[in-house]
Amino acid sequence: MNGKRPSPPQLRAGTEIRIAACDDDRRRLHAVLEEALSGHWNHHRRAFEEFWADQRQRDGHDPSLWWIAEVEGTPAAVLVARSQPDRGWIAWLGTEQRYRGRGLAHCLLLTAFAELKARGHHMVGVDVDSANATNATGVYEAAGMRALGQADQWQRDITVSGGSVEPLRVR
Ligand SMILES: CC(C)(COP(=O)(O)OP(=O)(O)OC[C@H]1O[C@@H](n2cnc3c(N)ncnc32)[C@H](O)[C@@H]1OP(=O)(O)O)[C@@H](O)C(=O)NCCC(=O)NCCS
Repeated sequence: MNGKRPSPPQLRAGTEIRIAACDDDRRRLHAVLEEALSGHWNHHRRAFEEFWADQRQRDGHDPSLWWIAEVEGTPAAVLVARSQPDRGWIAWLGTEQRYRGRGLAHCLLLTAFAELKARGHHMVGVDVDSANATNATGVYEAAGMRALGQADQWQRDITVSGGSVEPLRVR
């Protein structure tokens, strides 16, 4: 982020962005996220308690950086950011399918950037699946982010018959 404070987002009428301030809000945020991420690569549905316990032990965890975008009072899109020692971090971003394409993710990102900048961060990072079917990469780019590098993930499924694996002998 350059020296200027990022411009505030332009919200459509009936749309509001607010901090997920209480436990009920954070449960609403989690529900939106699960809907948004359902069917996406590497996503495994989790109960709120498991999600919350995982987030709490993350570097830079701060519930005052959890936002909900509401449309006519209904939670529609969410963002979870972190304030890590070296930079701000976008941990989670999701918009429910029926609310996509109206700038909610864009506005959430600008909101997070402005707050992280106010807290002294000059850089904000995110990990994104570059093959994301909903063009998440384009949404991050439209908000001013640039790719620093790309990594491939490889995997092989290993099936074991008989319940035990013989160690490989090196002669
Ligand atoms: C990626 C995702 C968060 C985008 O959410 P969204 O709210 O639809 O995003 P936006 O509306 O801000 O931007 C999407 C499109 O709407 C357009 N748009 C429409 N109205 C807009 C407005 N008023 N302001 C800004 N953009 C607007 C944008 O230009 C963008 O177009 P593009 O896809 O051609 O680039 C959403 O599709 C999602 O939840 N995907 C699944 C979860 C996921 O992949 N999350 C990211 C993991 S890292």
